[in-house]
Amino acid sequence: MEAELLMILLVACQAVLWAATLPQSPNLDTMDRRLQHARALLRESPLVDGHNDLPLTVRELLGNRLQDFPFDRNLSAIEPYASEAKDTDLVKLRAGGVGGQFWSLFTPCRSQFKNAVTLVLEQADLVTRLVDRYPDDLQLVTTADGIVSAHAQGRIASLLGVEGGHGIDSSLAVLRTLYRVGVRYMTLTHSCNTPWADNSNAEEQEGKQVLESGGLSHFGETVVKEMNRLGMLVDLSHVAAPTMRDALSISRAPVIFSHSCARALCNHSRNVPDDVLLKVQENGGLVMVTFVVHFLSCGPTATIQHVVDHINHIRDVAGVDHIGLGGDFNGTPV
Ligand SMILES: *[C@@H]1O[C@H](CO)[C@@H](O)[C@H](O)[C@H]1NC(C)=O
Ligand SMILES: *[C@@H]1O[C@H](CO)[C@@H](O)[C@H](O)[C@H]1NC(C)=O
Repeated sequence: MEAELLMILLVACQAVLWAATLPQSPNLDTMDRRLQHARALLRESPLVDGHNDLPLTVRELLGNRLQDFPFDRNLSAIEPYASEAKDTDLVKLRAGGVGGQFWSLFTPCRSQFKNAVTLVLEQADLVTRLVDRYPDDLQLVTTADGIVSAHAQGRIASLLGVEGGHGIDSSLAVLRTLYRVGVRYMTLTHSCNTPWADNSNAEEQEGKQVLESGGLSHFGETVVKEMNRLGMLVDLSHVAAPTMRDALSISRAPVIFSHSCARALCNHSRNVPDDVLLKVQENGGLVMVTFVVHFLSCGPTATIQHVVDHINHIRDVAGVDHIGLGGDFNGTPV
């Protein structure tokens, strides 16, 4: 199952990369023609974005009152969405030719050991209601075939990913239940350690956080194995490098980084070190390059050229089969 899902993400990404890097040719001699070509490719193969925090926006701004959310309007022209850069909407998803979207079921670290499981389920309910509200545009899918068939019918395949392993409250029963609800990836941590996995801030001792499990604990390895057994992708964005290495050595299925860049170009603990990129190649996994300014440039601004540089670096080290895109729209200031 993971292998199939991965294949779809890869095929779509390669098509776009290929279009972006084609040498000058009679058909692609202007930007306009390249754009037309890219749009044609996006119609042919579904490009799946790895991470979007729109569900968090609806919680923060509207307390999950979906009836007040004008998803079918251009939110760049509507406050408070515009000035807070929380402006993912149907208009832009369509204009950008997005074929599939992993919607993030995010729960903040302060909910750990409290109501994290409830918050995750509320966000799953929210995405389900969003899909129900726009049946001509969105389709909830849980398989690779589902992505292909939603795309063929002109709908954006909508997938669920849990951001933060604290969302299972150290319970394999909760993990299995989330799978049944439709969740197809889980990011092992957010910005806090779980009792069984260390996060990237611990690596930098940011906020005085330190490595507590040395990567994955024994139970953390069991979580990864259970995710493999279920067919839920293991997402290694946000985890500390020792956790990346532990997960890659234990996982029997390809892993993803749903929104991360290359550490060699920007030495940030949210990015992927070169030795891990090589392991991702062996594992058959995918690094979905994100548009978070600080991870791209390690500075206050970034351009599309930074995105291209990270893609090219990952291609050089891991290979073209291991690159995706995970914009982190609505999750980061732009
Ligand atoms: C959305 O609105 C913004 C600001 O008014 C505009 O620049 C942009 O082109 C619009 N996008 C689409 C896809 O219509
Ligand atoms: C990257 O940053 C970490 C600390 O944040 C430091 O220990 C390490 O030496 C840096 N690596 C390079 C190659 O600069």
